[in-house]
Amino acid sequence: MAGRLKGKIALVTAAGQGIGRAIADAFLAEGANVVATDLDTGKLKGLRGAVREKLDVRSTEAVEALAKDIGRNVGPVAVLVNCAGFVHHGCVLDCSEEDWDFSFDLNVKSMHRTIRAFLPAMLKRKRGSIVNIASGASSVRGIPNRYVYGATKAAVIGLTKAVAADFIKRGIRANAICPGTIQSPSLDQRIAALAKSTQQPLAAVRRSFVDWSTAALRCKGGKRRRKAIDLTKSDAKRKSTSRRKLRQSPPLPPRQRWGGDGGGGFRYQRSVLSGCSNWFVTADH
Ligand SMILES: NC(=O)c1ccc[n+]([C@@H]2O[C@H](COP(=O)([O-])OP(=O)(O)OC[C@H]3O[C@@H](n4cnc5c(N)ncnc54)[C@H](O)[C@@H]3O)[C@@H](O)[C@H]2O)c1
Repeated sequence: MAGRLKGKIALVTAAGQGIGRAIADAFLAEGANVVATDLDTGKLKGLRGAVREKLDVRSTEAVEALAKDIGRNVGPVAVLVNCAGFVHHGCVLDCSEEDWDFSFDLNVKSMHRTIRAFLPAMLKRKRGSIVNIASGASSVRGIPNRYVYGATKAAVIGLTKAVAADFIKRGIRANAICPGTIQSPSLDQRIAALAKSTQQPLAAVRRSFVDWSTAALRCKGGKRRRKAIDLTKSDAKRKSTSRRKLRQSPPLPPRQRWGGDGGGGFRYQRSVLSGCSNWFVTADH
């Protein structure tokens, strides 16, 4: 199906390669007006049809300036995809204060910056979708040597839930996606670096990167759902899909149920799709 995002403006951070690039490509194929941003604009070459902008998500000034510029010259952003992130390899003893601050700044505070900059225009239009790329290595699972990375991605899940709870009744959806291991240039670099430093064969290191991801999938009650995540669904479809998921799923055990706003206005459900644990937030009415 094509054209499901026709006419919508979608801004993607870290769209130069990997997951961000794939999202930008998919959104373009669905007819969105994509604003593809990255720290390295050279990587945005080839994204034909997209507005290509340099954006360092670690700079509040740059994020705010881009939000103003896009609002003025392109239009209101309907979909914000926060994809920029960095994987620090190591345990607590390998993580200096600088490593900690860098990871939290790039992986978490960047989302605080972009959401603060783009949410007001969404609220004016009473609709908008925020998609934050978290990870299975987070509060979903503890993974060896993902100490600060896991902490940042758990924070992304918390941040996303908080935004969803605050704004779902004002037309804003906020969802976090928690991928397992995904082929990307930085993954290849990390595998090569680890193979070199530990003097292990490349294939063995690659397998260890993939194994935790498939184990995460298997541990969810043995249920494997192979559906790919579809970020391109229109607002209306998205809502009904999420509701259908809720209806079809068995009742959640109490510890997996989160309260609404006192009036039970919304519910969360975790579902496992193709190695990813995703948080859907749906309105009950
Ligand atoms: N690849 C995986 O296995 C995997 C798994 C789970 C989650 N993720 C998450 O998905 C996201 C993308 O990872 P990936 O591996 O697909 O891509 P990647 O790491 O290969 O690419 C990251 C991109 O971010 C850009 N970037 C770096 N610093 C930036 C900054 N300050 N401002 C703007 N852009 C910046 C880089 O130029 C690059 O284009 C990350 O948040 C990552 O944590 C990846």
